[in-house]
Amino acid sequence: MNRYPESYEDSIQNKSAFWMSQASHLDWYQQPTQGVSQEGDFYRWFKGGKLNTAYLALDYHVANGRADQHALIYDSPVTGKIQHFTYRELRDEVARFAGVLQSKGLTKGDTAIIYMPMIPQAAIAMLACARLGVIHSVVFGGFAAHELAIRIDDAQPKVLIAATGGIEIQRKISYMPIINEALEEASHKIDHCIIYQRTEVAGDLIDGRDFDWDTLMATAEAAAPVELDATDPLYILYTSGTTGKPKGIVRDNGGHATALKFSMQYVYGVDPGDVFWAASDVGWVVGHSYIVYGPLLHGCTSIMFEGKPIKTPDPGTFWRVIDQHKVKVLFTAPTAIRAIKKEDPNGTHRQSYPMQTLKFLFLAGERCDVATHEWASQLLNVPVIDHWWQTESGWPMLANMVGLELMPIKPGSAGKPVHGYDIQVLDLEGHEAPTNQEGILAIQLPLAPGALMTIWGNDARFHKGYLERFPGYYLAGDGAIKDEDGYLYITGRIDDVINVAGHRLSTAEMEEVVAAHEAVAECAVIGIEDALKGQVPVGFVVLKGGVDIASVELEKELIQMVRSKVGPVASFKRAVVAIRLPKTRSGKILRRTMRAIADGKDYNMPSTIEDPAVLGEITALMENQKMGIAFQ
Ligand code: COA
Ligand code: AMP
Repeated sequence: MNRYPESYEDSIQNKSAFWMSQASHLDWYQQPTQGVSQEGDFYRWFKGGKLNTAYLALDYHVANGRADQHALIYDSPVTGKIQHFTYRELRDEVARFAGVLQSKGLTKGDTAIIYMPMIPQAAIAMLACARLGVIHSVVFGGFAAHELAIRIDDAQPKVLIAATGGIEIQRKISYMPIINEALEEASHKIDHCIIYQRTEVAGDLIDGRDFDWDTLMATAEAAAPVELDATDPLYILYTSGTTGKPKGIVRDNGGHATALKFSMQYVYGVDPGDVFWAASDVGWVVGHSYIVYGPLLHGCTSIMFEGKPIKTPDPGTFWRVIDQHKVKVLFTAPTAIRAIKKEDPNGTHRQSYPMQTLKFLFLAGERCDVATHEWASQLLNVPVIDHWWQTESGWPMLANMVGLELMPIKPGSAGKPVHGYDIQVLDLEGHEAPTNQEGILAIQLPLAPGALMTIWGNDARFHKGYLERFPGYYLAGDGAIKDEDGYLYITGRIDDVINVAGHRLSTAEMEEVVAAHEAVAECAVIGIEDALKGQVPVGFVVLKGGVDIASVELEKELIQMVRSKVGPVASFKRAVVAIRLPKTRSGKILRRTMRAIADGKDYNMPSTIEDPAVLGEITALMENQKMGIAFQ
C-alpha cells in the first residue's frame, strides 16, 4: 500500500473500491458485491457478502497453518494462573460452547448477555455467539445490578452467560447476588443462565434457572459456523450517553472484520504471528476489538490479563507480561501509565525486564497528558502513540499509522485521520474551524467500515444524537483542534459524558441516582480533572427545605447509592452541599461552566444566566472543598 497521505486520500476519494480491496483479504463464503450503500440515514458496508466472524478468527487459521500457534494467553496475577490456548484449542472450545448455546435453543438473530470478568470463558462465549449469529452484549463486571438490569431490558436476551465472580486485586466480587438482583429488577425474563463456576469465587446456582458451564460443556457437540450476511449484527455494546439510559451500539460482521484486520496491520503495525496485548477489559470496546476480535482475525496471539497495572503484585507487572509473553504492541489507557508512574516514579521495576520484543505503546480512552507521554517514552524507549476512537467507531479514527509509516510524534495530539474517516473540525455554524482553533469534531458520512450501524432498537436516537447537529456529518461528541500539519488534538467531550480512569460514564446517570435521595432537591454531577484518573465525578446537591442531615452523612449515603446503582467503577466519592446551582433563566443547570471553574479554565459568562452571583458562590465552595486539580 502507498504511504499515509496517498493511501488515506484513496480511502476517502475511492471509498468503496478501497475497502472492497481490503475486504478481499478475508475468507468470505461469498464475496460482497457492493462497497458502501445508503438507505436513508444509514450506510451499510459489503452487501451481498457472506461470512462468519468466528470462522475467520479461528477455523480459518486452524486450516491455514496456525493450528498450533497460541491464539490466547490468559495471564492472571490475581489467581496465579497462566493458561495458553492454541488456535485449535480455542476453536474447539468455542465450537463446543456454540453447541451448548444451540442446545439451549439459541439461533441466529437471538441476543445473549455476557457478564464475566477477564477469564478465557468470556472470549469463548463471545466467539461462540458470533459462530451462531447470536448477537452478544457484554456487560462490564464493574457495573451494578441496576445497570445489568437496564441492559437486559433493552437487549431482551434469551440467555445470560456469566461467571460466579471477579477478583479486584485481592477483593473477591461475588456476581451471583448481582445477577439475582438484576434478574429480579428486569422486566424482561430470561430463559436460562449459563454460569461458569470459578473455584476462587464460588457461587450458588439456582436450580432450574442456572446451568453449570462445565457440566454443559462435558457433553456438548461442536457446532459449525453459520453463514451470515455482512450486514447482520455481531454484537451490541452499551455505552454512556447524555441521558440516564445507555446506548446499545450495534456492530455489523463484514465491516467490522474488514476494519479490524486492516487496523491490526496498518494502525498497530503487527503481523500475523505477533503477540498483541490490549490491557483493557472485555466489557469495553477496546476489549472487544483488541483482546478478542482484532488479534484473532489477524492471526496474532492475544493476551488476556486479569490484573491491574499496579498491586498485582507491583508496578512492574505490565513489564513482566511484555517480557514473558514477548509482546510486540501494548495498548492501554494513559491512566494505567499514570498509576504505574505514581507508584514507581523512577521506573525501577522496569529494569528487571529487557522487553526486547516491544515495538510500540499505544494509548487511548482518554486524553493523554504530555507529562505521561514523555515519561512512558523515556521509560520504555519505544514510540508512544496516542490515538483516538470511541465505542461507536469500534476502531481508531485518529492515529499515527505505524504500519504504513511512523510520522513524527507530537505529544498531546492523537495524530491524523485514519483511513475511511473524513474528519473535520467545525465551528458552531458547521463551517471548517480555522487552523489551531478549537472546534467540534465531526466526520463526513459515510463512516468507515466497522463503525456503528445504529443504536439497538432506537434508530431515532441514533439520528438525533449523531446526525442531526450537522447534516451529512457524524457528531463525535468531542472538541478538537487541527494544527498546521493536519494533526488533531482532542480537547474533551462537548457533552456530559465523562472519562474516569479510561471508563466512559454518564453524569446524567449518576444525577438520576443522587436526585433520588430523599434529602436532595436538585443536583448536578460534573467531571472534574484528576491527576490519576483523568476525571472524577463530583456531585453538587441542594437540599430540600427543612431537611436536617449532616453533610458528611449525606455524602456517605450518596456514595453508597451510586456504588450500588451504577457500580464501583463510577468512582463517585465526593458530594458537597451547595446553597443553589448556577442556572439559565429557563432553569438549565450550567454544568459546563461549573466544570470550567473546577478545572481552572477560562469561561465566558453565559448570557442566559439567571443570577451571575451564583458562580461566585460555587467558586468559593470549590475552593473551600479544595476541588480542581489540573494535572498539567
Ligand atoms: N469488577 C468489579 N469492580 C470493579 C471492576 C470490575 N471489573 N473494575 C473496577 N472495579 C472497582 C474497583 O475495584 C474500584 O473499587 P473501589 O472503589 O472499591 O476501590 C472502583 O471500581 C474503581 O475502579 P478503577 O477506576 O479501576 O480504580 P482503581 O483505583 O481500582 O484502579 C487504575 C486505578 C488506574 C489502576 C485502574 O483504573 C486501571 O487499571 N485503569 C486502566 C484503564 C483501562 O483499562 N481502561 C479501559 C479502556 S482502555
Ligand atoms: P469510549 O467510547 O469508552 O471508547 O470513549 C470514547 C471517548 O473517550 C471519546 O469520545 C473521547 O472523549 C475519549 N477518548 C478516547 N481516546 C482518546 C484520546 N486518545 N484522547 C482524548 N480523548 C480520548
